[in-house]
Amino acid sequence: MERIDLGEVTLQVEMRGAGPVLLLVHGFPLDHQMWRHQLDELSSDFRVLAPDLRGFGQSDHTPGIVTMQTYADDLAKLLDKLEVREPVTLCGLSMGGYIAWQFVERHRARLAKLVLCDTRAIADTPQGAQGRLETAQKVLKEGPQALVDGMIPKLFAPATIQSQPDLIAATRTIMLESSPEGIAAALRGMAERPDVTARLPTYDVPALVICGAQDAIVNVTEMRSIAEQLPHGRFVEVTDAGHMAPLEKPNEVNAALREFLQG
Ligand code: MLT
Repeated sequence: MERIDLGEVTLQVEMRGAGPVLLLVHGFPLDHQMWRHQLDELSSDFRVLAPDLRGFGQSDHTPGIVTMQTYADDLAKLLDKLEVREPVTLCGLSMGGYIAWQFVERHRARLAKLVLCDTRAIADTPQGAQGRLETAQKVLKEGPQALVDGMIPKLFAPATIQSQPDLIAATRTIMLESSPEGIAAALRGMAERPDVTARLPTYDVPALVICGAQDAIVNVTEMRSIAEQLPHGRFVEVTDAGHMAPLEKPNEVNAALREFLQG
């Protein structure tokens, strides 16, 4: 792990391997460790970069609100700092996908390919956004515990919860160790993220859309439709996986990633 100073914040970044750059952007409220299987397996052929986003893991946090645009700009600054000049593949899961859309909007020239895992193009409903603001207040008062118990069953397929207790426990620990300020800032940022649905046909980058068949947060139909609306989108459904498909079914997800990256 290295600490990379971006000026306004310092990010902790896991970097492994050499070759074309694969930038992995984690979901909420997690950190780079959710990509452990991709770091292990894909670093044989790629330079894999997995930052902790601002407010998560060991990275600095900034209070208030962090928008999806700000996280996207942090990633572009990170590539600058690491002197990555060639276009990269950005792979984001869920909140990482919301950030990926903003990266396309703001830093298109830096992208060779795009991977969207278990994410959405639509914005929150007004009630959904309001719920996030209330959760932000609760987490600031009571800590991440206020979020964790309700969220774990939504993140994993029932079969994963049964068969991989160590994975569930490790994920719970990461969530509990997240900073309340980082969580609240991300919740506020997600609450005001733009709806990019109408923009999808303009995102002219080769794109792979991956969804766990039992994702309880995003459904397969919605993600298949995203792939269809992207000019160069293809869709992969991962059986027996939930919202955290890359952690739950690493072999399947890594095979899909490898084929897309090398194709
Ligand atoms: C995530 O996994 O990043 C979250 O479920 C995203 C969200 O809350 O919309």
